[in-house]
Amino acid sequence: MQNYIHGYSETEAGRLEDQASILASYLHYDSYFPAGSTVLEAGCGTGAQTRIVAAANPDVHFTSIDIDAHSIKRAAEEIGRLGLRNVSFQQADIFNLPFSPNSFDHIFCCFVLEHLPTPHMALQSLKKVLKHGGTLTVIEGDHGSFLSFPETAESRRTVQCLVELQANAGGNALIGRELSALLRKAGFEKIRVSPRQIYADAGRPGVMEGFSKKTFIAMVEGVKDQAILHGLISKSAWEKGIADLYKATEEYGSFVYTFFKAIAGNS
Ligand SMILES: C[S@@+](CC[C@H](N)C(=O)[O-])C[C@H]1O[C@@H](n2cnc3c(N)ncnc32)[C@H](O)[C@@H]1O
Repeated sequence: MQNYIHGYSETEAGRLEDQASILASYLHYDSYFPAGSTVLEAGCGTGAQTRIVAAANPDVHFTSIDIDAHSIKRAAEEIGRLGLRNVSFQQADIFNLPFSPNSFDHIFCCFVLEHLPTPHMALQSLKKVLKHGGTLTVIEGDHGSFLSFPETAESRRTVQCLVELQANAGGNALIGRELSALLRKAGFEKIRVSPRQIYADAGRPGVMEGFSKKTFIAMVEGVKDQAILHGLISKSAWEKGIADLYKATEEYGSFVYTFFKAIAGNS
């Protein structure tokens, strides 16, 4: 995938793992599927979510796909290392799935649609391989939901640079709020969207470290070179903005961000 904004580096793989671990209690306390069912995980990346949902559902078989061969290899190694035997990996494109219609009981897709120029077409493609009566679970963020204290023009601008770069690459970093509409347009029914808000202050040092620093600021810092190169911000404003984001992780700071988890039916 040429325009994938976060890239496929070791640093990004580590960030995805930190993100999945810290967010597991917010996003996956209800990620359970009926025993004996089959789940297609679309866009599994390096398996950061796979290892959580597969471990929580030992009697469910997961087929985890990604378009990137290197990510699939890494995910398979990690799942093997953990001794999880209920996952098969396959390199595949969501828009050209190598499965027959009505193949899976459920589909799970996390942090993928935000990178696609045509997320509604991805949902339509996934719907074809989902059995009637099955469900699709989608999880996405929305950078417009980010609030911090303190907050400055520069800290807001660094986050906005990420939103703009992702839009330039054909994605949408504000997709969380749109999930319900996208699912409806793709023909899904019984759509339930559950906002999952993360709040961190000095009283929650684990969330501040794991989410605010290692997930959110790390993600923003990842686009520094692109933001400056494309003239979206000056180097000095970028450096002040990042320093200001870190101030919000200190003793008197606070961080707020909302993820959106949608579950939709296929009648
Ligand atoms: C942000 S990563 C998320 C990975 C994983 N779901 C997680 O939450 O850690 C997005 C993943 O979607 C994959 N992807 C993007 N377009 C795809 C496509 N058309 N078909 C399959 N995978 C795709 C990328 O290769 C990348 O691994």
